[in-house]
Amino acid sequence: MRVFFKTYGCQMNINDTEIMSGILLQDGFDIVNSLDEADIVILNTCVVRQKSQDKYHSELGQLFKLKKKGKLKLIGIAGCGSNLEAEKLLEQGADFVLGSRSISEVSNVLKKAISGEKITYLEDTVCSIDSSSPRLRFSRHHAWITIIHGCNKFCTYCIVPYTRGREKSRPLQDIIREIERLVHDGVKEITFLGQNVDAYGKDLNDGTSLARLIEAASNFEKIERIWFLTSYPTEITDDLIETVARNPKAAKSFHIPVQSGSDRILKLMNRRYTKNQYLQLVEKIRTRIPDVSISSDIIVGFPSETLEDHNETIEFVKTVEFERLNLAVYSPRDGTVASKYLRDDVSRQEKARRLNELLELQKQINRRLNERYLGCTVEVIVEGNTKNGLYYGRDIRNKIIIFSGETLSVGDKVTVKIFQTTAGPLYAESQKKCGL
Ligand code: SAH
Ligand code: SF4
Ligand code: F3S
Repeated sequence: MRVFFKTYGCQMNINDTEIMSGILLQDGFDIVNSLDEADIVILNTCVVRQKSQDKYHSELGQLFKLKKKGKLKLIGIAGCGSNLEAEKLLEQGADFVLGSRSISEVSNVLKKAISGEKITYLEDTVCSIDSSSPRLRFSRHHAWITIIHGCNKFCTYCIVPYTRGREKSRPLQDIIREIERLVHDGVKEITFLGQNVDAYGKDLNDGTSLARLIEAASNFEKIERIWFLTSYPTEITDDLIETVARNPKAAKSFHIPVQSGSDRILKLMNRRYTKNQYLQLVEKIRTRIPDVSISSDIIVGFPSETLEDHNETIEFVKTVEFERLNLAVYSPRDGTVASKYLRDDVSRQEKARRLNELLELQKQINRRLNERYLGCTVEVIVEGNTKNGLYYGRDIRNKIIIFSGETLSVGDKVTVKIFQTTAGPLYAESQKKCGL
């Protein structure tokens, strides 16, 4: 049987699809790259905002039609949507629903579905995914590694703690075994993943931390770069900052969602820091790592957000000058504290206006910050080709760079010189090695 995965949402879902694909492949299923070739489709879903939920439901509608026409045998749902609306999905016609912490069971559940059973499986089997679990990695040079599952923070707007469950760190030794296998397979870059990746190890109570893990990973000669996503402001330790500063393989890049520049809104969001504490953190990181890149997420139009609150966010963004900003309009999520107790009272037009204002501001900041790169030489790891025959890749500060050069392969590290900057990617040419 041929299975096609369609993956929505964050890197954790991408990583989960790789694991589920690996398990199915080992159990004799074929994994195919397009819907046309598939007997079975599994949607690995995201529900972080209403838009994300609508997107997979509209795909699901199309799939149900294909199944009616006899073009598909089974339709399954995995990911965060499963935990949120399993019953509804089965009622609508899904053949099986697999929880976001149950991916180790994908093959068993699928076999039951093939034998005609309508099945929902939401048990927590997250501990049975380890370094020995098979994986079908989509990149040969880069690997996602989930190191901590779930989230304990309960920001009032966020559905993730309800869909991904509580924080659970993987044992450090098991992650190291996974890296050993990756190195053997030729992987050069790794990204440690967690909703609060910097909380890694705290529940293990044995001194394990993200800093120790980065150090241990950097001992592998063939690992060239180590990334980590996403950081929660109050979980970033001095030890982590020091480790990133000293370790040449640790990416000089922190993604630290701030969500708002207004203390009143931060409190309503149950974010556990003030604007000033965040600014002090940025200052501390930038003092220790002067060339660091700091990026963030902001939610626009949170319930009761006034023009004053919004202007505080504007001023905050001007002060920090993030290297990148993900902006999202507030979307009420059923079951969260905000949706229960706070009225979604900023109009749709006003949310759009505030979003555009921030987008425009960030674009100007990006353009200005990127200009500093003009004429500079940086090291890039090749990630692929653009349509017009150029290469693209990232430097250690997570800048996307498009460049020309002689025949290169994905995973090659090259030195390039930037000759043009935009608000988005930087343009460069690779520096010829002198053959002397
Ligand atoms: N753990 C990370 C990110 C989790 S979700 C953190 O602590 O920030 C990714 C992003 O989606 C969040 O940073 C937030 O900006 C956005 N998001 C989450 N819930 C949302 C909601 N209900 N409406 C709009 N954006 C939301
Ligand atoms: Fe959601 Fe907050 Fe947890 Fe991030 S820290 S996943 S925003 S609850
Ligand atoms: Fe979406 Fe779940 Fe990730 S809701 S953002 S796929 S943790």
